[in-house]
Amino acid sequence: MTTYYLTTPIYYVTAKPHLGHAYTTIIGDALARWHRLLGDDVHFLTGTDEHGQKVQDYADAAGKSAQDFVDEIAPLYEQAWQRLNISNDDFIRTTETRHKLGVAELLQRCYDAGDIELDVYKGKYCVACEEYYTDDELDPGDLCKIHKRPVEYYEEENYFFRLSRFEQRLLDWYAAHPGVIIPEFRANEALGLIRGGLRDFSVSRTSLKWGIPLPWDAKHVAYVWFDALANYITAIGFGSDDTTEFDKWWPARHLIGKDIIRHHCVYWPAMLISAGIEPPAGWAVGGWLLSGGEKMSKTSGNVVNPLDLIDDIGVDGFRYYVLAETTYGQDGDFTYEGLIGRYNSDLANNLGNLLSRVATVVDKKCGGIGPAPRADSPLATAAATAYEATAEGWVTVQPSRALDATWQLIRATNAYLESNEPWKAEPGPAVDTVMGDALEALRIVAILASPAVPATSQIVWERIGLSGDINDQRLPVAAQWGGYPGGLSVTKGEPLFPRR
Ligand code: ME8
Ligand code: MG
Repeated sequence: MTTYYLTTPIYYVTAKPHLGHAYTTIIGDALARWHRLLGDDVHFLTGTDEHGQKVQDYADAAGKSAQDFVDEIAPLYEQAWQRLNISNDDFIRTTETRHKLGVAELLQRCYDAGDIELDVYKGKYCVACEEYYTDDELDPGDLCKIHKRPVEYYEEENYFFRLSRFEQRLLDWYAAHPGVIIPEFRANEALGLIRGGLRDFSVSRTSLKWGIPLPWDAKHVAYVWFDALANYITAIGFGSDDTTEFDKWWPARHLIGKDIIRHHCVYWPAMLISAGIEPPAGWAVGGWLLSGGEKMSKTSGNVVNPLDLIDDIGVDGFRYYVLAETTYGQDGDFTYEGLIGRYNSDLANNLGNLLSRVATVVDKKCGGIGPAPRADSPLATAAATAYEATAEGWVTVQPSRALDATWQLIRATNAYLESNEPWKAEPGPAVDTVMGDALEALRIVAILASPAVPATSQIVWERIGLSGDINDQRLPVAAQWGGYPGGLSVTKGEPLFPRR
């Protein structure tokens, strides 16, 4: 069985979960669900990044210990993901013992390899990025380009990771692994960073206490990015006595935002190579969700709380919008009008309307019992095309294309009903044929849409009389035309998506 280990970034606990975090996590969830449908053995990981200066500052400002502070925020992420029906298999917090053990092991391996050495650092540091910058990387007035706020001058004894030694090794590795970063233009960005020359980066702080001590020099705590990146291996048991899970799952595929390319595509593979671990299997890099033209972030003060939106249009309405509205890899603008527009057109008018029409006609003209489809239905080709294009969309991490392909089948089925007008015909074989075809198309739609709208898909499944958990369906067989057996009770029920 193919293993598929997928990760999201671990989010800083300095902010409550916002729409930007939900965006990346929902994409991860849909991909994980798609791969489970394919029969892959899936492990989907998310979590929280809880150490570092920024967290310490927030805790101080709140008059709390750092531990108390993170213990209050981390559960908000777990709860938000539950509410959004995220099917993560694990949730890692960097304050957990398993993580601390693994980080110590990773540091020790890089140190033993001679790639971590003591030096003195003098320079400008953005606390919000947890990153040192040179003058040419800053805006006038020593402002961080991302956070538009002044950097701080730091001078301290640090251990450094000798990233400069990895330039050629990274270029060689990427050359031998084409296509590992998608979309392609992001791969060029990462390679550009490497070709532009790599500077050693500091991996420890003495001024900070809230972090993981270096195993060979406890005056220093590990730099938060070294700590954070390690989550992808510590969560699967790296650094513990039992390496079964690590051996099974590693290497991972990472979903990240474009803000953290340098750390994930440059630092991280170099750290792994130093420690004698294989680099990741892949990276998919998303753009930003903007609100009012700016990146949605706590620092910009323009955050939208995903849980508020759920109250308005439901979990699946929200998930669908996030997946369908923007092209993965590009920035996308969040607007409330866009959210409602998508909901009304794709969910209420297309999917919701199709189910309600089918159930109504089956009730009136077929005695409530769904007929079987024809083998040579004109919809069979539409279904085959929809499957191929949907699969292609998910596998290339283009959720909007995958959903557009699935919705083509919905549109084709609605058009098929409109041209046959079974609601006007007398009950009999002609009506049965049309309704059997429509029910079969709905069965396939329910499966193909389930990574995006899992609860809705299960409802459609049951309304057309099918039983069992839709997640137990296996592709590609389950999407082949002809699976709807006929003779099942079809239920009308409440509208799936009442218009807003
Ligand atoms: O960077 N649009 O955490 P973070 C789209 N802890 N995606 C967004 C977004 C937006 N407006 N805002 C955030 C960190 N994201 C580190 C990561 S990983 C080892 C450590 C998503 O809380 C996007 O995926 O700032 C981005 O990369 C991530 O959240 C950063 O979350
Ligand atoms: Mg950030």
